[in-house]
Amino acid sequence: MSLLEASNISKIYGSKRGVEHKAIDNLSLAIEKGEFVGVMGPSGSGKTTLLNMLSTIDRLSAGTLTINGEEINRLNKSKLAKFRRREMGFIFQDFNLLDTLTIEENIMLPLTLDGWKVKEMEKKLAEVAKQLGIDSILRNRSFEVSGGQMQRAAIARAIIHEPAIIFADEPTGNLDSKSSKQVMNALSQLHQHKEATTLMVTHDPYAASFCQRILFIKDGRIYNELVKGESRQAFFQEILNVQSMLGGDTDDLQKIRV
Ligand SMILES: Nc1ncnc2c1ncn2[C@@H]1O[C@H](COP(=O)(O)OP(=O)(O)OP(=O)(O)O)[C@@H](O)[C@H]1O
Ligand SMILES: [Mg+2]
Repeated sequence: MSLLEASNISKIYGSKRGVEHKAIDNLSLAIEKGEFVGVMGPSGSGKTTLLNMLSTIDRLSAGTLTINGEEINRLNKSKLAKFRRREMGFIFQDFNLLDTLTIEENIMLPLTLDGWKVKEMEKKLAEVAKQLGIDSILRNRSFEVSGGQMQRAAIARAIIHEPAIIFADEPTGNLDSKSSKQVMNALSQLHQHKEATTLMVTHDPYAASFCQRILFIKDGRIYNELVKGESRQAFFQEILNVQSMLGGDTDDLQKIRV
């Protein structure tokens, strides 16, 4: 069984005028343990809706979702909250760090919420901070560090409790190219050395080229799937080709950097 399995899932949004809109249309996908999967597609194609459904933030209108052997539809509210806290890590475009806390307090937050012992939290903190190269900024507050450092701190927070799956929505959306590169290197290291399983939505073909596999979404369905071969550069080019076929965001084609 795959780590995540979505079967025939749909999301229907109603409108005030009574017109229904199928944002995700009978879509099925599976993600294996240790995979690093990207989701791309034009604006409005349903990427965020899909991510929110798979990460259990949004309910399914139809279909089934199983993560780590647990059928999500069957969990009640409090079980679902606990499942999300223990088994999932989240990374957002705008970092979502609390600026009243230091970087290390931010990173330890998921463990604090789960009642870990201080000694063990500190041990875990040292480990992830080293992995992500942010040891030197742990005592700073978020507004005292760079965007790339903030996002690496957010990644540390997303992985410190060793979740079964990490969900990232546009993690490089607010970063310059140098920081994007650091963040993407950090994410792909995690996946190479720690068998982290990651699902990332992105508009950025450069960020996407670090994934092993990309699902392209159009009108709420899977339009195409690309699997990385030997070289990241070649994968990058293939991603650009599918993007130009799909149309939509022509802006993306101007952000070319390899
Ligand atoms: N809460 C909502 N209520 C009604 N319609 C919605 C809602 N959220 C999204 N939609 C619609 O569903 C479709 C998919 O939206 P979604 O946000 O998933 O797209 P996206 O691929 O993430 O786009 P972008 O690249 O611009 O972030 C769009 O047509 C959008 O207008
Ligand atoms: Mg979106």
